[in-house]
Amino acid sequence: MANTILIGMQWGDEGKGKIIDVLTARADLVVRSQGGNNAGHTVIHRGVKYILHLIPSGILRRGKVCVIGNGVVVDPLALVAEIESLRKLGIKVDKNLLISDCAHLVLPYHRILDEQRELRRGRIGTTKRGIGPAYGDKAGRTGLRMSDLIQPIVFSKKLQAKVIENNRILQALGAKPISFREVNETYLAAAKKLRPFVANTVVYLHRAMERGKQILFEGAQGTFLDIDHGTYPYVTSSNTTAGGACTGTGVPPHRMDRVVGVMKAYSTRVGEGALPTEDDQLAQRLHNLGREFGATTGRKRRCGWFDAVATRYSRMINGIDEIAITNLDGLDRVDPIRVCVAYRLNEKRLDVPPCDASQLANCEPVYEEVRGWNASTHASRKFSQLPSAARKYLRYISELTGAKLSMVSVGPARGETITL
Ligand code: GDP
Ligand code: IMO
Ligand code: MG
Repeated sequence: MANTILIGMQWGDEGKGKIIDVLTARADLVVRSQGGNNAGHTVIHRGVKYILHLIPSGILRRGKVCVIGNGVVVDPLALVAEIESLRKLGIKVDKNLLISDCAHLVLPYHRILDEQRELRRGRIGTTKRGIGPAYGDKAGRTGLRMSDLIQPIVFSKKLQAKVIENNRILQALGAKPISFREVNETYLAAAKKLRPFVANTVVYLHRAMERGKQILFEGAQGTFLDIDHGTYPYVTSSNTTAGGACTGTGVPPHRMDRVVGVMKAYSTRVGEGALPTEDDQLAQRLHNLGREFGATTGRKRRCGWFDAVATRYSRMINGIDEIAITNLDGLDRVDPIRVCVAYRLNEKRLDVPPCDASQLANCEPVYEEVRGWNASTHASRKFSQLPSAARKYLRYISELTGAKLSMVSVGPARGETITL
């Protein structure tokens, strides 16, 4: 397998974890380049459900090296907890994990600030993991990084200044101040556990490429949560699109060989912001089947019809070469199925999503209706075994998106996958 970037083409939770797990078979390294533990990537293997937040999903396969790149924001306590819970499940986390020394830290004041902002008007519906404030400090050039965490004297000094600064802000917001002493102690204890994993991951990745190793870049979130290209301000704080894989790892663009986009056979979103094809009946149907509950926060995901305006734009931004369509089985008993082929705004037809949040919120989807298949796709392992209406639907939404269909997922487990 060539160096591959895997990207969520919608609003996150497209089933990236499941597809990463399948693709990891042919990769040597799996690398995260952005986001933090706001991500929740589900992999089901041999009946066990694993939800990965910070550690690349490749960790579940023996012999693969996983890297947390410089573009990720790392909550040290969450990372220690994730390592320990994987070890309890019998997963090796040792020399097979590296963390960039340049990755920024998520610290307690980031989480509290995130929670405080979410209490106010204009809330984003974040995961409250401190992601926005941590990337804010990074851009403001006042953040602390992994390299600080593993130098106790440096860390304590920088942390003390940050705690003083942030306690003033917390006080103004009416929130409880935090104790430098407690945070310092707890984080230095976590630092001891994380130190063995910290490295210059840029050099590591380049050496691996010189030895012919193949890298899989595991995108987190999705295209419309991208800080630049997403439905701003209802986005996360990193570049979730393909370019983020370069800046977030130090692997240059010309070393990237292909981009695989993952999209659900319908649309979902968690949190605030427009979801043009939102449909409460479809949501209820999926929720009644026990589907579409958030992997990180447990929140009910909002659901809607497949939105080709969105996925076409996503194909353009990310340079998608191949598409993996997941959760086809979610539509097994839905008939008819609607597909959004354009938006209508003030009597005008739009083929691309408008940048402005309130304009997007006012867009009406233009639908085409297609026939459902009213049969289970769950046991299909070849494209030819799918009902003909399902094959037609898959071809239709791939054509509307404009990229080659390469995989179809009909269930959450590794084997429940059709490769074309
Ligand atoms: P990610 O964040 O993109 O990795 O996606 P999540 O793990 O947050 O959410 C995707 C959900 O869909 C998880 O519960 C997966 O186990 C599940 N899933 C993925 N692909 C399929 C599929 O083809 N069929 C079914 N039934 N579930 C799937
Ligand atoms: P994966 O990798 C779905 C959403 C939040 C909120 C917005 C900002 O599992 O696909 P943040 O905590 O990042 O500041 O929240 O982004 N969000 C996600 N939605 N999947 C995710 O990750 C998400 N990570 C963040 O719900 O709307
Ligand atoms: Mg998820």
